[in-house]
Amino acid sequence: MERRPKSPLAFKNNKLHFQNLNLEQAISSIPTPFYLYSQEQLEKNIISFKDHADELDHEFLICYALKANSNLRLLQILERHNIGADIVSGGELEQALKAKIDNSKIIFSGVGKQDYEIEKALDSQVLSINIESIEELKSVNALARLKKKCAKIAFRYNPHVEVSTHKHISTGSNKHKFGMSRDDIIQALNDSELWSNCKLIGLSIHIGSQLMELSATAHAVSKLSKLADEIGIQLDFLDVGGGLGVDYDQNDSAPSIKDYMQTVQTHLVSSNFKRIIFEPGRRIMADAGVFISRVIRTKTTAGHNFLIVDGGMNDFARPSLYGAGHAIYPSRQATEVKRFDVVGPVCESADCFARGLELPELNAGEFIAIADTGAYGRSMSSTYNLRALPKEILLTKKGELLDITPP
Ligand code: LLP
Repeated sequence: MERRPKSPLAFKNNKLHFQNLNLEQAISSIPTPFYLYSQEQLEKNIISFKDHADELDHEFLICYALKANSNLRLLQILERHNIGADIVSGGELEQALKAKIDNSKIIFSGVGKQDYEIEKALDSQVLSINIESIEELKSVNALARLKKKCAKIAFRYNPHVEVSTHKHISTGSNKHKFGMSRDDIIQALNDSELWSNCKLIGLSIHIGSQLMELSATAHAVSKLSKLADEIGIQLDFLDVGGGLGVDYDQNDSAPSIKDYMQTVQTHLVSSNFKRIIFEPGRRIMADAGVFISRVIRTKTTAGHNFLIVDGGMNDFARPSLYGAGHAIYPSRQATEVKRFDVVGPVCESADCFARGLELPELNAGEFIAIADTGAYGRSMSSTYNLRALPKEILLTKKGELLDITPP
């Protein structure tokens, strides 16, 4: 049975290690807070995803969702494994190309593409612009006509399925802004004026993120397959989006990649397509990164203990934004523990990484590591409270620590 790779964090002789690295020694000269990534874990994740896709009956293409983490150095590692990109902005397009990701493996998604971004995508000859409305198709066709080009497009279909995940990251129901209904897609196909400079080469879905069970995926993929049959055009690809969840908490039990792929294959019965496209983000990046933050001081008030660290909600937003629970490791283990709220310096009560967590009483200068923060960590950080953006450090397979923070 396939097992999810373990987080690179573990205690050895009571000291916290990141793979074989004794963090206390290794990071003594690195200013906190910062993200630390493991090349080894990242490559394991990529290879595992590819190996399972290799077992499918269909050709496939993996287009990594840049929004999870768009660090150039990490993208270059993905590129070396022939991974494509799912992008949602002109900035992400530039970054993907800078990492030398093949333009013929780039999918451009998103409901609010602006003219300059569409033009950039046309000039770069991306694999497909995934269209999210009839209005957008009109814009793309008009811009392609001006450039005397033919835009390769796919429709993002909204299959209207209920997904059990946080409401902020659920995207596949008809009350969401994402995708197009079956009726709108058929209407668009029947309007010849929209097709002077566009060609339909695929259909796509993306129903949500951090999906922990496969029934909604099965339902959505079946509907996608049915729509491909109904349209009856031979397509290059059916794109099943991203969304596969990860185990943030001990009690989580995310589907295995194997079960996920089998679910997709079983329900993609149409014969009107050549390739399956996957757009994973989180599953590739999450457990390859940790967020390291030093203790500033502890504070006790009204019998309540706070561990105040130098990383805040601006650096790592998931707990404050989605109430996400990430495992927090202290720099050392001890037999005596107390309950602490782990909080940052930002002036909001939402600036809290965990409540009532049992931890040793750490001293100023000791640190914590927040696990599984490689995805949607640094990419969602901000300078709120005029704080500097956190650094990014890569532990290479050779055991070197490289500063890979963007200039
Ligand atoms: N494809 C599309 C069109 C997407 O919108 C997304 C994510 C993905 C692929 C990748 O999904 P993944 O495999 O990573 O679940 N900030 C949130 C997650 C937002 C996801 C948005 N779209 C979080 O921290 O949970």
